[in-house]
Amino acid sequence: MELAGIRKHVFICNGSSCLKKGGHEVARAIRSAIRKHGFSESIHTTLTRCNGRCEDGCTVIAYPDGFWYKNVTPERGEELILHLKRGEPLHSNLAYTYNGKQFVAVESGVLRETAVAAETDDAPMKDHKRE
Ligand code: FES
Repeated sequence: MELAGIRKHVFICNGSSCLKKGGHEVARAIRSAIRKHGFSESIHTTLTRCNGRCEDGCTVIAYPDGFWYKNVTPERGEELILHLKRGEPLHSNLAYTYNGKQFVAVESGVLRETAVAAETDDAPMKDHKRE
């Protein structure tokens, strides 16, 4: 597998909870959309085990954008790929996004700013510094 030229890496959860919610079908739809639109040279996919967000299943994650998607269906899979190619999130299914410093939750397509505001300084992460 040649990775040179790959611009996006899509992780499709195939943990048990996501499989119960159509993980195989989502993976097939996403990979089919990538082939159909000629994106095979720029978008790579990997099936994963549980990503720790079972309640959001089927979970799909895209890097380097840092988009974490929830409730992805096969129908949304193709849309997700078309948005990703344009560098835009698919807002209807976006659960978290990366703001340059940390992941922030998205609710109904809107960043949960109150949670972000309290934790967006450049201070070291508290878990790593004991006083
Ligand atoms: S099985 Fe997909 S997030 Fe847990």
